[in-house]
Amino acid sequence: MTGTMQFSAGAHDKDVDKRAGACSSAPAVRPLAHRPVLADEAPREVLSRPDGIYVDATFGRGGHSRRLLKLLGAGARLFAFDRDEEAVAAARAIDDARFSIIHAPFSEMAARLAERGVARVDGILMDIGVSSPQIDDPQRGFSFRFDGPLDMRMDTSTGMTAAEWIARADAAEIERVLRDYGEERCAGRIARAICAARADKPFARTGELADFIARTIGRSHKDAGQHPATRSFQAIRIHINGELDELARALDEAGMLLAPGGRLAVISFHSLEDRMVKRFFDAGAHPERAVDARIALRQSDLPEPLWRDVRRVKPSRAECEENPRARSAVMRSACRTERSWDGAASAGGAR
Ligand SMILES: C[S@@+](CC[C@H](N)C(=O)[O-])C[C@H]1O[C@@H](n2cnc3c(N)ncnc32)[C@H](O)[C@@H]1O
Repeated sequence: MTGTMQFSAGAHDKDVDKRAGACSSAPAVRPLAHRPVLADEAPREVLSRPDGIYVDATFGRGGHSRRLLKLLGAGARLFAFDRDEEAVAAARAIDDARFSIIHAPFSEMAARLAERGVARVDGILMDIGVSSPQIDDPQRGFSFRFDGPLDMRMDTSTGMTAAEWIARADAAEIERVLRDYGEERCAGRIARAICAARADKPFARTGELADFIARTIGRSHKDAGQHPATRSFQAIRIHINGELDELARALDEAGMLLAPGGRLAVISFHSLEDRMVKRFFDAGAHPERAVDARIALRQSDLPEPLWRDVRRVKPSRAECEENPRARSAVMRSACRTERSWDGAASAGGAR
């Protein structure tokens, strides 16, 4: 354990913004020493039975996993997932027979656990976004703080890099991604300019793309402290990693996997993800709201909730002061009821 800790997309983006314009080719990469967000609260939030089966869907560098292991009994199991091979390699340092690491996207949680004979779990923790080791390594191409190859894949063993996508996507697709995932007001202008410029020279480096976006749209008065490429970089990263689809699928899988009384906790760092999680829990906790109010039904005919005890936790003021990145974090959690998951509304509809 290096003591370096995570920060996630939204928090990272804002942090980078404050150092806007600094695109150096000679990075002094110092991983940020840090605690995971809600380090103590999040593992406790998913704990139901000390000797149960648990999932850390986003191992990162294992801050939450290690704390969860301390809370669990000798008969417990903890299955951790990460799609990043470096995170998986870091997990091998955990020498604990109760712990297993799985290199897979969390959307495949149920299938990967089924291969290991696990059909039901007692708690699932998801701390979504990117980790500081990912952001701080220029070779991963997530950040324009330092120049590096335009990659942005969490799993570098598969899929298209950001450079490949930018070389191939048409202007309408680039505009949609920047608008939908980055809430970028100048999405159309940036997309058209990228398509015109790439004919001469493809975009290969984070620095090239960040400088190009800055020249294309200039600095906004509204987002004064923010680098003009911040929203675009967030959007491209979300698209390249299919982050919202991953989340929607994983929420459904978690609902299906959890035993009655088991808890799911999701920490998110920007509003797109938090909105999905909120709608997912709201819809499951209040299925009666989906029933047409004109249909007269007895209380006993109304659908049973899938979730109860829905909670929302923000990091304390002290944590935010110690760690500014915690400011944008929100943890939402809920407890699974007895109702079977079959036929439950999918989280895809929560977007
Ligand atoms: C914010 S960090 C988690 C930090 C972790 N809680 C800790 O204490 O170190 C998010 C991690 O989730 C991983 N991740 C993000 N999306 C994923 C997905 N769809 N499937 C599997 N892992 C994912 C990232 O690779 C990253 O390592």
